[in-house]
Amino acid sequence: MNVKEAISNRRSIRRFKPDTVPDELILQLLESARLAPSGSNTQPWRFIIVKDAETRQKLQSASYNQRHVGQAPVIIACCADIKAFGEFPERVEELIAVGALPEKTREVFVPSLKKGGMSADIKWHLLIAATGNTDIAIEHIVLHAVELGLGTCWVRWFDDNKVKEILEIPKNIEIIALLPVGYPAEEPPQRPRFSLEKIVYYEKYGESIK
Ligand SMILES: Cc1cc2nc3c(=O)[nH]c(=O)nc-3n(C[C@H](O)[C@H](O)[C@H](O)COP(=O)(O)O)c2cc1C
Repeated sequence: MNVKEAISNRRSIRRFKPDTVPDELILQLLESARLAPSGSNTQPWRFIIVKDAETRQKLQSASYNQRHVGQAPVIIACCADIKAFGEFPERVEELIAVGALPEKTREVFVPSLKKGGMSADIKWHLLIAATGNTDIAIEHIVLHAVELGLGTCWVRWFDDNKVKEILEIPKNIEIIALLPVGYPAEEPPQRPRFSLEKIVYYEKYGESIK
């Protein structure tokens, strides 16, 4: 299966077979998450693999009782460390060492970001960066799962505080999504999408395809 096929075959799966998913496959999915890109290579994502039936039921309750959450044999709780960005100078050094960034990044980019780091809305920026970067890693998992014959569903509708309590997640960690993973027990058709005409403009916002 190529990437394009994985993209077009993917669906949000909300009915799963009871069959267990081998740990080896879950680790393959997380290896794909590990390889995702992130701003300054900060890699803020953290993952908790949940297989325990009782914990899955608790997560289902915390997700306003969405059935597919508890029904899937595995839930990957996808989290972001909002403090990860604080280590960006170290990450930039690594990128310079492997030749991905020029030496001048150290003198220009790092001080400018550090200066920006003093601004009042830094927490908001850290949150946006950590969230956006982790979203990319999650979608790597989701697309790789299609190739492995596994189904997933992004779940963002849950009570953050309850999920944090259940999984003993510390303060500086945000839960970005719960991802139930299992063998699909349904084959839903493609869901509605906007046309390219509605979402793509030429040269300026609002200029549609002629
Ligand atoms: C950030 C995000 C949050 C979502 N949260 C939920 C959720 O809490 N429960 C759920 O059943 N589906 C959730 N979905 C799945 C969407 O409903 C789904 O992607 C959309 O309806 C399109 O369907 P498709 O994924 O099958 O193409 C979420 C998707 C995303 C990307």
